Amino acid sequence: MRSGDYDEMIDLWKSCQGMGLSSADTREAIEAFLLGNPGLSFVARDGQSLVGTVLTGSDQRRGFLYHVAVKPSHRRMGIANRLVDHAMAALKAAGIEKVHIMVFADNQPALDFWQQTGWVPRTDLVLLSKVVE
Ligand SMILES: CC(C)(COP(=O)(O)OP(=O)(O)OC[C@H]1O[C@@H](n2cnc3c(N)ncnc32)[C@H](O)[C@@H]1OP(=O)(O)O)[C@@H](O)C(=O)NCCC(=O)NCCS
Repeated sequence: MRSGDYDEMIDLWKSCQGMGLSSADTREAIEAFLLGNPGLSFVARDGQSLVGTVLTGSDQRRGFLYHVAVKPSHRRMGIANRLVDHAMAALKAAGIEKVHIMVFADNQPALDFWQQTGWVPRTDLVLLSKVVE
């Protein structure tokens, strides 16, 4: 993934139900994210056309995947699986041993995808958030 992919990525993300977009997804924010996490995020292309993304970060302690998305016309072809495999390999090479994802509780297709590929819901944890003033 390069910052030059942004226009195609944001179009894909906006078209995806179940994906939350925020001020963390502006062009500047994504550029900063990629600079801070070099070589960890990937896109899939069909010819010239962007058809999938995984945004991958690490805080040097745990890995985080965001915006795993595949164009509707290209779903159920294993593209998300391959994108996640690349991200996990890159995190492993960076010394990361565990990776977390956040999924909206009502995004059942995504929950099916993650659980089919071995990700385990953490019923012992609750995600808490606070805006930085
Ligand atoms: C979730 C998503 C990324 C899956 O992408 P994909 O490329 O179609 O996934 P894959 O082809 O790699 O699927 C691998 C396996 O996951 C499971 N799976 C994937 N999509 C599924 C769905 N909609 N329903 C049930 N199981 C699903 C299947 O077991 C599938 O294997 P199979 O096709 O051999 O049965 C895609 O549906 C998407 O972009 N959704 C909108 C964005 C989104 O919600 N992203 C997740 C944010 S947490």
